[in-house]
Amino acid sequence: MGRVEGKVVVVTGGAGGIGAACARQLLHEGARVVVADVAHRAGRDLAEELGDRARFAELDVTVEESWERALAETEAAFGPVTTLVNNAGINHRCGIEDVTLVDYQRVVDVNQVGVFLGMRAVLPTMRRAGSGSIVNVSSVDGIVAHPLLHAYVASKWAVRGMTKSVAQEVGPEGVRVNSVHPGPIDTPMTAGREGPLAMARGLPLRRMGEPREVADVVVFLASDASSYCTAAEFVVDGGYVSL
Ligand code: NAI
Repeated sequence: MGRVEGKVVVVTGGAGGIGAACARQLLHEGARVVVADVAHRAGRDLAEELGDRARFAELDVTVEESWERALAETEAAFGPVTTLVNNAGINHRCGIEDVTLVDYQRVVDVNQVGVFLGMRAVLPTMRRAGSGSIVNVSSVDGIVAHPLLHAYVASKWAVRGMTKSVAQEVGPEGVRVNSVHPGPIDTPMTAGREGPLAMARGLPLRRMGEPREVADVVVFLASDASSYCTAAEFVVDGGYVSL
């Protein structure tokens, strides 16, 4: 029996990178999985490749009605959602005096407001069921910081804090909420960028991580093996935050 047999999981940003790796691993471990993303071509292709226990739902995490539609589609296909992986995220590198308000707010909208809207949308179902697991993908930039990433860092610190607050609120009803903090991972977000490569060379493990190495931790948090874990930070960073 797979480690997440019987779970119904929505993975935001599931069409590529870490999200796609999560969708694959969760499916492999027995879950039914909804790949939820704005990237409909890649998302649909992945869901088709994964087969009958996978579906694509078009989701813009920043839009309330989009969450309602995606969760209704999930429930119609597989039943009530048991697990939400809030993984969708974007990055924007820019000096603090040069960044526009629009660019700053876009990062906060996707990375922070998207996580808030997702948790708010799934919690009534999880509370009714008396169980559930929410996994919020933050970053090592939700624990430390790098220059030129103020919007990203602000949004990822917010995710880490919000995770703990919501976990304290919903824990008595059987719902667990945790955050995952990847270091430099080889995905389209980091492709061709010198910063993550240079960071990886200085790590205790001396390399970038693979998306499936983050997905393995997400599977653990989605599974009942993590039944006593909540309000916690799970770092997957090759040793970065120890430096
Ligand atoms: P990626 O760029 O490869 O994939 C992100 C996915 O999110 C894409 O499929 C994209 O279409 C989707 N997305 C973007 N905006 C969206 C929206 N408004 N609604 C729904 N989906 C949307 O990124 P990657 O690397 O896979 O990152 C996944 C998560 O991991 C992000 O939250 C990122 O901040 C975080 N992370 C990544 C690290 C890395 O080194 N790659 C390091 C630390 C954290």
